Amino acid sequence: MKQFLDFGSENACEKTSFMFLRQELPVRLANIMKEISLLPDNLLRTPSVQLVQSWYDQSLQEILDFKDKNAEDSETIHSFTDTVIKIRNRHNDVIPTMAQGVVEYKESFGIDPVTSQNVQYFLDRFYMSRISIRMLLNQHSLLFGGKIKVNPAHPKHIGSINPNCDVVAVIKDGYENAKTLCDLYYMSSPELVLEEMNVKSPGQLIQVVYVPSHLYHMVFELFKNAMRATMEHNVDRCIYPPVHVHVTLGNEDLTVKMSDRGGGVPVRKIDRLFNYMYSTAPHPRVETSRATPLAGFGYGLPISRLYAQYFQGDLKLYSFEGYGTDAVVYIKALSTESIERLPVYNKSAWKHYKANHEADDWCVPSSEPKDMTTFRTWIHLYLNSGNYNSKLDFCKEEKA
Ligand SMILES: Nc1ncnc2c1ncn2[C@@H]1O[C@H](COP(=O)(O)OP(=O)(O)OP(=O)(O)O)[C@@H](O)[C@H]1O
Ligand SMILES: [Mg+2]
Repeated sequence: MKQFLDFGSENACEKTSFMFLRQELPVRLANIMKEISLLPDNLLRTPSVQLVQSWYDQSLQEILDFKDKNAEDSETIHSFTDTVIKIRNRHNDVIPTMAQGVVEYKESFGIDPVTSQNVQYFLDRFYMSRISIRMLLNQHSLLFGGKIKVNPAHPKHIGSINPNCDVVAVIKDGYENAKTLCDLYYMSSPELVLEEMNVKSPGQLIQVVYVPSHLYHMVFELFKNAMRATMEHNVDRCIYPPVHVHVTLGNEDLTVKMSDRGGGVPVRKIDRLFNYMYSTAPHPRVETSRATPLAGFGYGLPISRLYAQYFQGDLKLYSFEGYGTDAVVYIKALSTESIERLPVYNKSAWKHYKANHEADDWCVPSSEPKDMTTFRTWIHLYLNSGNYNSKLDFCKEEKA
């Protein structure tokens, strides 16, 4: 984050950015393309995954075309910036298209636990890689793409970064937009109760160096979830308890805790909520051009967690079953600690896809008592079948 900021603020140089990106983008693209190729064949063959793959192939080729071009030539530099914008737009629909591929695969072939684990592992890395590539593309195109250097809507921004991101303002914005959707679907919505505590600089606004659109994405998704749970859980009483948000800025962490009284979920299910494709909402129809659905794709939590983790933060859910849920977003308070977290293709990653998933190394005793009648019948049949010589034989075979 600090490097992005330092580079962007001091007379950002298009040529330096060009020279960096023509090296870095192919590396990031190639890393994730290697992993795409390790997906199960049947998933790779779905039209949607083929399409995504073709976008990556084309974008990699377009960047590689600049490999040996003269960095002193201003025409080259301008055409590179155009290419960066073209690539960014080409990849706009990667998330829904990839998701569609997984749905097609699941519908045709079903998903066993090993594939499901591999797909989850892959999608986390794939979407994280995409976030990072888009960050680079956005910085370049926002800094050098327009005719005017400064974005009139956000004159203080360095590309997509706000060096003084007003956290509470972004949270309120996320709340208002989620509330509009909630009102549309449920004709009502829970209030917001917001508390802020600036422990680092008491009495001052809570500000961090951050990408406001990333923070907005996370809180908007969490608000939608909190509101839906609150509305559904309290439908009989018609009294909707407010969503409480607590923002704290410490020396190391900025913490945003969102608490709802939407009934929570059993702790057994918490991990599952971060699974791509897990949603308890009816799957929304993509083609309907009605308003954005409040829920339904099952991507809200896992993608939000990636945004948090991208700059070394995190997103966690703590549930109180029967009562409500606390969702907590952690963000690094210092820009020097907000370092990109990137997937890298290496032997460990490769092994992850190829490893034989052996039996669990923890024993989970069956909750059902052993059906001794079947067992006794089986011994009886065996002993009467004449296929044994002695009790000892039986015991040996049984052991085997
Ligand atoms: N605050 C919450 N209280 C209760 N259940 C929740 C809460 N947040 C999430 N969930 C459960 O987790 C599931 C997954 O949430 P997620 O946000 O990832 O997907 P979604 O809301 O179903 O769809 P979308 O992709 O549109 O966000 C939800 O369907 C819901 O069952
Ligand atoms: Mg959601």
